[in-house]
Amino acid sequence: MDGATPSFDIARIRADFPILASEYRGKKLVFLDSGASAQKPRQVIDAMVDCMRSAYANVHRGAYHLSEAATAAFEASREATARFLNAPSAQDIIFTSNSTMAMNLVAHSFGRGVLKPGQAVVASEMEHHANLVPWQMLRDAHGTELRICRITDAGELDLGHLAELLADGRVGLVAVTHMSNVLGTVTPAAQIARMAHEAAAKVLFDGSQAAVHRRVDVQALDADFYCFTGHKLYGPTGIGVLYARAELQRVMPPFLGGGDMIATVGLHHSTWAEPPAKFEAGTPPIIEAIGLHAAIEYVETIGMGAIEAHERALVDHAMATLSRVDGLTIHGRAQDRGGVFAFGLDTAHAHDVATLLDRAGIAVRSGRHCAEPLHERLGAEGGTCRASFGLYTTTTEIDYLAETLVSARKFFA
Ligand code: ALA
Repeated sequence: MDGATPSFDIARIRADFPILASEYRGKKLVFLDSGASAQKPRQVIDAMVDCMRSAYANVHRGAYHLSEAATAAFEASREATARFLNAPSAQDIIFTSNSTMAMNLVAHSFGRGVLKPGQAVVASEMEHHANLVPWQMLRDAHGTELRICRITDAGELDLGHLAELLADGRVGLVAVTHMSNVLGTVTPAAQIARMAHEAAAKVLFDGSQAAVHRRVDVQALDADFYCFTGHKLYGPTGIGVLYARAELQRVMPPFLGGGDMIATVGLHHSTWAEPPAKFEAGTPPIIEAIGLHAAIEYVETIGMGAIEAHERALVDHAMATLSRVDGLTIHGRAQDRGGVFAFGLDTAHAHDVATLLDRAGIAVRSGRHCAEPLHERLGAEGGTCRASFGLYTTTTEIDYLAETLVSARKFFA
């Protein structure tokens, strides 16, 4: 069985993804860029098309049946998302447009509305720009300090340094990734939350990568904020999720103003709706919420445990196989890691390697993967190639990647 665990029928799963059966540049598509955005199963595509064909209307606005039914379907997606993250209640789930907007929401609303100038935010050297730039903007606008936690040479968060950064009690928020989009490192989130809370700080996890590969339980992690995005979870673009603790949502001011987020509006003053509506101004991503719900049901039907086991097997296989390719540097050797491999070939630039892989039908991302400071830290300022796996990835595809890299190295030498 190719890359399969006993409870994981990879052939049946792959048959759910129409794009994997289609020809790509005269070849079979080997899609190893799921970390950027995952492919979509027909269950998601069908749910969205069905919604647009026969069940679509705006939500929270109409007294007619079609609108009430659309509202119920939209809110059912929120319920499913709360269950997916084991959030205490659907009210703890704010729909955004993506993870980036979720972190900007926290930076604006919690950052400017709750944190005091002079308090600090801790991010790390391995953050995606989406969990770094908003804190720089907050610092410049609001006078918060930005502290950067180091990573070790293995690519793990340096918890000793985190303890030092927390020691003076001035940190209001620790905002770190739950899984690096470059190194694959899975961070010890529960331990980080414990350390933050002992220092009276709140904690935000960027779960854009982790939520796709691992079962996430925001209560077990004791997260204050947790975000992920629909399009990496085999769902549509245009919808992201921010879990925010109920008591924090109550004290946070709104982020965007407009329809749906208000209780009353006068010409000069308005009052706010109860959370989470307070944070969802304007027509929300309705069709996308339907698609997200279908995506969550899709991965839950397979089982996050089974997906995790399959991907652990892929990671072990990739580490063994890619390590045998001469001249290949794999960045990151964390003990706990997911299916994301950034690498460099000694004979060629990352973009050239990616172009050659593409000719062989293999799609990988090349560049700095929205993590420029991390690439500097790695001494890979010119960028890396990145192969990232999904639940449809097979060991045969990883073998083909390794073989093609061997040929690529010879070609460029
Ligand atoms: N954040 C996505 C990535 O890492 C786009 O590729």
